[in-house]
Amino acid sequence: MRVKAGILIFALLLAAVPSTGLAAIGTIRFDDKIESMKKAGVGPVMFPHDKHEKTNKCDECHPKIFKDKRGENNISMKLNMEGKFCGSPNCHNSPKAFPLFQCASCHTGVKAVKKN
Ligand code: HEC
Ligand code: HEC
Repeated sequence: MRVKAGILIFALLLAAVPSTGLAAIGTIRFDDKIESMKKAGVGPVMFPHDKHEKTNKCDECHPKIFKDKRGENNISMKLNMEGKFCGSPNCHNSPKAFPLFQCASCHTGVKAVKKN
């Protein structure tokens, strides 16, 4: 009986997850532009979606700044610096968040810059 009850509870838990409607997105890896990143000496971006969900409302980003589909946003540093995507006016181009020149705050594997 114990085992059966355990299975039943497990099945109920499984059934309950999709009904909450929100699967955790967690961290999204950006590496579409990996060749260009390698040339610049930086690695892929690990975007903490979960952290941004706590500091911003969904509609501050979706759909105006980012399409809510993985891989559907053609992000580049040029566009970021022009005030698009991560560099949008209230984001990493404003005092509200760390600035775009802090490469290592977004990119993994940033090599130390040689000082002359
Ligand atoms: C700071 C901006 C920001 C906020 C706030 C934000 N998102 Fe996102 N979201 C993104 C980015 C960036 C992506 C990745 C898009 C890509 O891969 O090109 C994304 C991706 C997604 C995806 C696609 C995930 C996948 O696996 O394909 C969904 C769904 C989504 N967001 C829903 C939400 C919901 C719901 C909220 C609010 C609870 C939210 N987002 C808040 C920026 C944001
Ligand atoms: C706020 C976060 C953020 C910061 C800070 C940032 N980047 Fe990026 N960067 C991104 C994202 C997101 C992409 C898109 C990655 C993809 O889709 O493949 C990207 C893409 C790139 C690319 C490849 C595309 C392109 O534009 O050529 C290079 C190279 C790059 N970044 C270099 C840098 C350097 C160098 C710095 C520091 C001066 C920097 N980044 C700072 C988020 C950031």
